[in-house]
Amino acid sequence: MTRGYRAIYARYRQNILAGVLKPGDKVPSIRVLAEELNVARKTVEAAYAVLVGEGYLISQGAKGTRVNPDLTLAAARPDVAPVSDDAGLNQFLDLRDGAGYLRLGIPALDAFPTKKWLLLAGKAVRSLRPTEMTNPPVMGYTPLREAIASYVNISRGLNCTADQVLITSGYRSNLMLILQALGVKSDKVVFEDPGYFFGQRLLKRFATSLHYVPVDRHGIDVDYLLRHHADARVAIVTPSHHSPLAVTLSLPRKHQLLEWAAANQSWIVEDDYDGEFHYTRKVLPALKSLDTQDRVIYMGTFSKTVMPAIRVSYIVMPRAAMARFRETGEILEAGVPVLTQKILATFLGEGHFYKHLKKMRTLYARRRKMLLDALHIVYPGLFEVELSDGGMHIVAFLRTSTRDAELASIWQSHHLQVSALSGWYCLCDKRYGLVMSYTNIVSTEQAVALISGPRAQTLALLT
Ligand SMILES: Cc1ncc(COP(=O)(O)O)c(C=O)c1O
Repeated sequence: MTRGYRAIYARYRQNILAGVLKPGDKVPSIRVLAEELNVARKTVEAAYAVLVGEGYLISQGAKGTRVNPDLTLAAARPDVAPVSDDAGLNQFLDLRDGAGYLRLGIPALDAFPTKKWLLLAGKAVRSLRPTEMTNPPVMGYTPLREAIASYVNISRGLNCTADQVLITSGYRSNLMLILQALGVKSDKVVFEDPGYFFGQRLLKRFATSLHYVPVDRHGIDVDYLLRHHADARVAIVTPSHHSPLAVTLSLPRKHQLLEWAAANQSWIVEDDYDGEFHYTRKVLPALKSLDTQDRVIYMGTFSKTVMPAIRVSYIVMPRAAMARFRETGEILEAGVPVLTQKILATFLGEGHFYKHLKKMRTLYARRRKMLLDALHIVYPGLFEVELSDGGMHIVAFLRTSTRDAELASIWQSHHLQVSALSGWYCLCDKRYGLVMSYTNIVSTEQAVALISGPRAQTLALLT
């Protein structure tokens, strides 16, 4: 009998890890499988019990048994060799696409006003006019451009008009458009180090003279930029909350950066991906709000404020470059679905967006504390967190060890989608820790339970 149960266990485990059986798939009942395999029910029962115990299956009583829907299929990835210098970055693709807790960049999905959204979606579908059923306007749906202009002017301190707003499908389209429209692909481009992995990945491929500038507790080191790369044509920065360190670019450095751009006729690309979420004082205005010389290209997104699946982001173009953006947009872009833009335009126009942001600011501040408390309870003294003024994630720095990559993979094997800070760096002066999000934590108890999973392995690795 022992051999029988082991064989069934091994067969399921292998099929689940190979991705043949997928998270959420139903498996046969004990009775049916026992009959099918012609073994005693107890044999199947024993195999299922171990698979449930190890988290491969979940038993849902009368509803039957399924492959655990929260399972991250680390071993199911195709066995493909990573592409050249992207090897370190490929870990992030798995993190972005896999399921699990503490995932970066995902807003609080349980707090999204779904009912209101459905209502607005229904209205948008019903009111779609034949003229809106043709090709989407390349620069964006006018009511949404207007709503965004009014939002960024009021909330982010900008001073733009609706015709400066260009609607796109996300960060990567934005960067491609910017590189093309400004004709800077072969000019010197500088990027933060550490820096956003999708930015690094795209720029490594498409910007021929890419350089990195270190980031410290006050944001990008502008003195370093001036010393080493004053001739850069473009600097891509995350001033509100740096990605991934979450620090805010200091006011003196903001001015220094703007002065440099104005003096050299260079461009600053401001990636304001989560600037809405600032907790300690009033929401911090964007860098663009200080830009009197029109050198800043502002990028915003609805991925953090609404949901990533919506795929709507925007660029606020400098006045002087609008024609070049339009011309490039007409070559590269097919437009964003009008229906989605229509729903969003009403969501903003009727004030639901503002209400939602306000609610999320309070909620995220609370959820951040839950995760911090949990780290303190489960791992007293092991991590150091330099609390920033906002953002949607924290970095738990390792106090002494440099083994964050090993630690991250231990946590990932417990379905915790954290990433190793060292993997975000390109220069050699790295720091080490785990980057994790708290936006979907619902209680301190839940956070404690989640991060206790890898406790024994974590302590064995780090102490
Ligand atoms: C640093 C950074 N920039 C931009 C974005 C927004 O990208 P997108 O609008 O394509 O979702 C993200 C989202 O994760 C981000 O982390």
